[in-house]
Amino acid sequence: MRSPTTEHRQITFAGEILTLPIYLDYQASTPLDPQVEKAMADCQKYLPGNPHSNTHSFGHKARRKIEEAQGHIAGLINAQPHEIIFTSGATEANNLALLGIANALSSPRHIISVRTEHESILQPLEYLAAYEDIDVTVLSVDKNGLIDIDALTSTIRPETILVSVMAANNETGICQDISAIGRICAERDILFHTDTVQALATEKIDVIAQDISLLSLSGHKLYGPMGIGALYVRERTDIAPLFYGGAQQRSIRPGTLPTAACVGLGEACRIIAENRSSDHNHLQRLRSIITHHLTTELVNAVEINGEEVPHIPGCLSLSFADMDAENLLYELPDLAVSTGSACSTMAGEPSHVLKAMGRSAVETAATFRLGIGRTTTEAEARYAAAQIITAYRRLTAGNETAEILGKTIQHNRVS
Ligand SMILES: Cc1ncc(COP(=O)(O)O)c(C=O)c1O
Repeated sequence: MRSPTTEHRQITFAGEILTLPIYLDYQASTPLDPQVEKAMADCQKYLPGNPHSNTHSFGHKARRKIEEAQGHIAGLINAQPHEIIFTSGATEANNLALLGIANALSSPRHIISVRTEHESILQPLEYLAAYEDIDVTVLSVDKNGLIDIDALTSTIRPETILVSVMAANNETGICQDISAIGRICAERDILFHTDTVQALATEKIDVIAQDISLLSLSGHKLYGPMGIGALYVRERTDIAPLFYGGAQQRSIRPGTLPTAACVGLGEACRIIAENRSSDHNHLQRLRSIITHHLTTELVNAVEINGEEVPHIPGCLSLSFADMDAENLLYELPDLAVSTGSACSTMAGEPSHVLKAMGRSAVETAATFRLGIGRTTTEAEARYAAAQIITAYRRLTAGNETAEILGKTIQHNRVS
């Protein structure tokens, strides 16, 4: 694995000053929005109270701030504020959704999910299947990463209690048809959980219109703080806690709430609700610039996974012909990209997502993820594309050709 560049430096490119390396890993984490940072700092300054203290105004003020934040989060997904349960992040929210629903209901219990889900879905399901007498069906996906809706329908049994399907995949950005899945579940009175961690920043999600019973989200994927997330739980849904020891959040998730982090998540959601469609358009435009450059300069040598099916605009999963992505990344020290999800990179495992899509080990090794976000500029997108093209050509054609082609790319950039 290449060692990360620690030094930052500036260059001028296409008339703009770029700071290198360029952060292009928005699926792993997003930068904190300055307005979020300010809201959190104000909160720390003025609110020493425990939001669960009932006997003085400090506690009341903190509580009101938390309720305001719940309102913003609920507003983003068309929920009600009291349906928002704060967690430490989406890993916990996903665990709470699966284990909490399984433990609240009696046997026989059957849960359906998908092979390409995040590990924070797949591992709790493995646990439930191994130790809690729960039948789990994990659906396959096609070569485009999509589940077959008919296969889902035919997998449903009388004892099916829950279907969990993510809205957008963290490695490929591919979006499942959660409206169709929600409808199928609602018609059969089955709970539907969706992990919207990667979708929520740019896609419209409506828990009522899309028949969603439970929804996970994470602060640090929404330009909010790390260490905070939430689970939407539709009212009157039976759910057991993961922890015991307090009555906070109706005992569904006990523990003192971190006021500033909750406020930050609320503010991040408020900003997204206001800017989602302009953010979406901005990312779509940058994506088109990158894909246009790559596909016209590297004809037949690059594949953009998921390009032909619905996807979030910010995630580009790129596979290169005859190339190990690690070798390519060695040549790209100025681009902070990732060879998979942050979690699978840590485990050093090949991507289970690309494998489920039928990609060979060689194709998986030839893939990396480039993630653009709200703060990515057009010059950064153009620079990234040019760097990738130059590096690929250098590695495949040798240094001499690369120098000539490098100049060609330089020329293209200005035009
Ligand atoms: C789709 C998806 N679900 C869940 C998570 C876990 O989120 P958190 O970092 O908040 O625990 C991630 C993180 O990468 C993710 O991409």
